[in-house]
Amino acid sequence: MPLELHELSQDSEFPGLADALWRGYAEPFNGFWEILKGPSLGECTERYRAWHKADPTSHWLYVTDSDTKKVVGAMQWNIFETNPYSNGAPLIAAYWWPEGPLKEIANQALAGFLSGRRTRFAQPHILISYCFTDPNYRHKGVATQTMKWGIQKSEELGLDIFVESTEDGRGFYEAYGFKVFEEFYLDVKTDSSNEEFAQQRKELQFPLHGYYMKRPVSTNKST
Ligand SMILES: CC(C)(COP(=O)(O)OP(=O)(O)OC[C@H]1O[C@@H](n2cnc3c(N)ncnc32)[C@H](O)[C@@H]1OP(=O)(O)O)[C@@H](O)C(=O)NCCC(=O)NCCS
Repeated sequence: MPLELHELSQDSEFPGLADALWRGYAEPFNGFWEILKGPSLGECTERYRAWHKADPTSHWLYVTDSDTKKVVGAMQWNIFETNPYSNGAPLIAAYWWPEGPLKEIANQALAGFLSGRRTRFAQPHILISYCFTDPNYRHKGVATQTMKWGIQKSEELGLDIFVESTEDGRGFYEAYGFKVFEEFYLDVKTDSSNEEFAQQRKELQFPLHGYYMKRPVSTNKST
């Protein structure tokens, strides 16, 4: 099972990446990913391709199993050489969902999540936007390969790294010198008269618990 690291550079690499995103975030359940993944794999593939192409800060690093050629894990790194929040937080509406409670929850969650970055990450920095490994390939050094790429960029450019971590990711980030500086609970406003909304919120397991973590550029590598 030799592993190979790649930096995504062509449109044709997105179907393999999106397929791995769906596998990688399926376990453990992640309510925020349920919002982001959209209604179908095809739609998700096209949207992630469009987002990447429109964003000059975006770098997708992925790992394949050389025997099967399948993508088994990936990270999206965003390199911000200037403060990206000098004009406030960006707004993203969840246009990929049809009108209804799920779209409303997604819009609220995205707004809350992005505004959280505005005050905490308001400096030139590197951001880990996505980080996952196929459940069948965990603890084999897949995410380590993509992490090393980002740590090297951080050292080269003199930029701190930030991430919003899930509970599951925390131990991995700590192994690479990240420290929690704040805990968060992301929630949406419940409309008690709307049962469908309340049920959907419950199914997505809101409030979502996570940690703001930082790896200062001066941190020595742990490997
Ligand atoms: C977090 C995640 C990306 C780690 O991927 P991975 O490829 O298994 O990580 P690696 O094999 O490179 O791990 C390197 C080291 O990090 C630490 N580590 C990795 N996963 C860990 C976990 N779940 N808990 C504690 N420490 C962990 C260990 O020290 C590990 O070394 P070891 O396997 O020799 O003990 C993977 O568990 C995952 O996809 N989780 C679900 C998605 C997710 O929550 N992503 C984080 C979003 S912010």
